[in-house]
Amino acid sequence: MKLSDAIKKRRSIRRFTHRKVPEKKILKTLEAGLWAPSAGNVQDKEFIIVRGGDLKKEMVSAVFDQVWVAHAPVIVVMVSDINKLRLKFKDRAEFYATISAGAAMQNMLLYLTSKGLQGTHVGLYDESKVKRLLKIPDDKRVFSIIAMGYPGEEPPVPYRMDLKNVTHFEKYGAKWVKKKPRETHLE
Ligand SMILES: Cc1cc2nc3c(=O)[nH]c(=O)nc-3n(C[C@H](O)[C@H](O)[C@H](O)COP(=O)(O)O)c2cc1C
Repeated sequence: MKLSDAIKKRRSIRRFTHRKVPEKKILKTLEAGLWAPSAGNVQDKEFIIVRGGDLKKEMVSAVFDQVWVAHAPVIVVMVSDINKLRLKFKDRAEFYATISAGAAMQNMLLYLTSKGLQGTHVGLYDESKVKRLLKIPDDKRVFSIIAMGYPGEEPPVPYRMDLKNVTHFEKYGAKWVKKKPRETHLE
């Protein structure tokens, strides 16, 4: 699949089929995450693969009762060894960890889409509950949870803003020039 197709076909879904996700595919998805940029190439990320039914059910209360999460065949919790970043970047560690996790998350989602799967980023979670449940050490942080599997729904494509309305040229406020048509279709 072309990258531009994967970018557009990636969709947050909340219904999955029961089809098992081969472990090899899960690991390759994590690898796609590892290839994302990280501040100073510190590579602070670690992953927890959650597949057990009981544990997934217990995860529901940690994600503020988003019950659909338990029905995903696989949940991946992305953990940051944030102290590695603190050593190098001090106060900017949290900011960098957040951005790096976002980059890894998007790599993973695009990889899944390109292989016929989908993943949804679950950002609404109670970090201390997730940590308690998965025995994540106190000094580590959770920056991303991805629920993944083979799609059991094809939701309508969500609205995206018109690029014209969010693009400035050179300085903020210098908007799209009408006379200058620009190609905006992703290819
Ligand atoms: C930071 C972040 C947090 C999100 N948290 C949740 C969440 O807790 N639950 C959920 O169902 N979707 C969550 N989403 C998915 C968004 O709702 C989704 O990306 C958005 O509606 C656009 O749809 P699309 O991903 O299909 O393009 C989150 C997405 C991001 C980037």
